[in-house]
Amino acid sequence: MRVDVITLFPDFINQSADVGVVGRARKRGLLQVQTWNPRDFAHDNYRTVDERTCGGGPGMVMLIDPLREALGAIREASDAPAHVIYLSPQGPRLTQKKVESLAARPRITLLCGRYEGVDERFVAHEVDEELSIGDYVLSGGELAAAVLIDAVGRLQDGALNDAQSAQQDSFSDGLLDCPHYTRPVEHALGAVPPVLLSGDHAAIRRWRLKQSLGRTWLRRPDLLARRALDKESRALLEEFRREYLAAQRLEAKTGPQD
Ligand code: ADE
Repeated sequence: MRVDVITLFPDFINQSADVGVVGRARKRGLLQVQTWNPRDFAHDNYRTVDERTCGGGPGMVMLIDPLREALGAIREASDAPAHVIYLSPQGPRLTQKKVESLAARPRITLLCGRYEGVDERFVAHEVDEELSIGDYVLSGGELAAAVLIDAVGRLQDGALNDAQSAQQDSFSDGLLDCPHYTRPVEHALGAVPPVLLSGDHAAIRRWRLKQSLGRTWLRRPDLLARRALDKESRALLEEFRREYLAAQRLEAKTGPQD
C-alpha cells in the first residue's frame, strides 16, 4: 500500500511512521509513505502557503494553489487513484471498519490542515472524504494522519508477526478486547484467572468472549446496541451481567471484596 501525505511538517510524519510495526512494514516494503510539502509548490519568494481568512477574524487558511500542485505531483507519481482524505474535526469519526476498508486500497492521500484549515473550494473539488479521529481539536492534521497510517499499516499482510493478532483486536468484531495476563501467575496484585492456566482451549475461548462482551456492556454499551448477538454470546453476556450485579450487591453490603 502507498500513502502520500501533504503536510507542512514532513519530519513529523516520517519519524512517526518509522518506528514499531509500521516502521517494520515500511522496511519490509509492505507500506510506502511519501510526504509532500506544499511549501515546495509555492512560487513566491516567501514560499507562502497560507493567507488571512476572508471575512475577517483570527487565523490563517491554507491556499488552494500549492495544495493543488502538490496533489498534481502525487497523481503523476502513480497510476492508482489518489483517494484524497482530509483530516479534520469536521469529518465523521474514524472507526476500525473504515480503517479496514482504507487498508484494502492500493493507495490513499492524506491532507493535513494547519491554522484554521484549508480553503473550502479545495475541499469541495479535490477531497474525496473528511475524517476526524475524535471530538477534540488538534493544532493540525499530522497527528491524525499518523494515527491513520499506524492503523492501516499494521493491517497490511505480513506487518504483524502473529497472523491472528489483527483478528483478535478490540473492535475487529465490534467488541472490546478481553483482559490479558502474563507471568508471574501469583503476584501481590492478584492471581491470573485459573481458567487461563487450565489448558482447556474451549473454556478459554468462552471466558475471553464473555469478558469481551462484559467489558463492552460496561464500558461501551453503544457498540453492543449496534451488534446482533448469537445465542452463545447472549448466554455469556447474561452470565457476566448476573455475576457482575451479584458482586456489586455484595460489595454494597460488605465493602470491596478482594
Ligand atoms: N485536525 C485537527 N483536529 C483533528 C481531529 N480531531 N481529527 C482529525 N484531524 C484533525
